[in-house]
Amino acid sequence: MTEQTLVLIKPDGVQRGLVGDVINRIERKGLTLAALELREVTVELASAHYAEHSERPFFGDLLEFITSAPVVAMVVEGDRAIAAFRQLAGGTDPVEKAAPGTIRGDFGLATQFNIVHGSDSPESAAREISLWFPSLNS
Ligand code: TYD
Ligand code: MG
Repeated sequence: MTEQTLVLIKPDGVQRGLVGDVINRIERKGLTLAALELREVTVELASAHYAEHSERPFFGDLLEFITSAPVVAMVVEGDRAIAAFRQLAGGTDPVEKAAPGTIRGDFGLATQFNIVHGSDSPESAAREISLWFPSLNS
């Protein structure tokens, strides 16, 4: 079942020089890149992307962080790509939830600075891909 998922390397991952490592893990897993762009994120895009969290106490900090410096946005494709990338990323809290061997488990210390985003369902993936890459028809 070929799927597409939206992956972000967040500002912390870009600034720490982890872009190559994250892409390497995606490729070694057997997933492929369908789109890739380094870009600044507007508050409008960040708010739409994280709309489900708009009432959460961390929303303001999350928007401030994600708009603070460029991110790498990608469309990643392959068999069960949505779950496969979530597995590579590890749980949201890099210490309590992400296992060693995952991106967050290997590189993260704080939930706010957890390096990557990956869509969590087919509905989220479709919504997020059309937000970030409106010209892609999938
Ligand atoms: P969420 O969608 O719950 O996690 P995931 O990225 O694993 O899908 O939350 C979105 C992001 O919000 C999360 O990656 C980091 C940030 N966040 C916090 O800063 N504090 C929190 O308590 C939570 C749950 C998330
Ligand atoms: Mg999420």
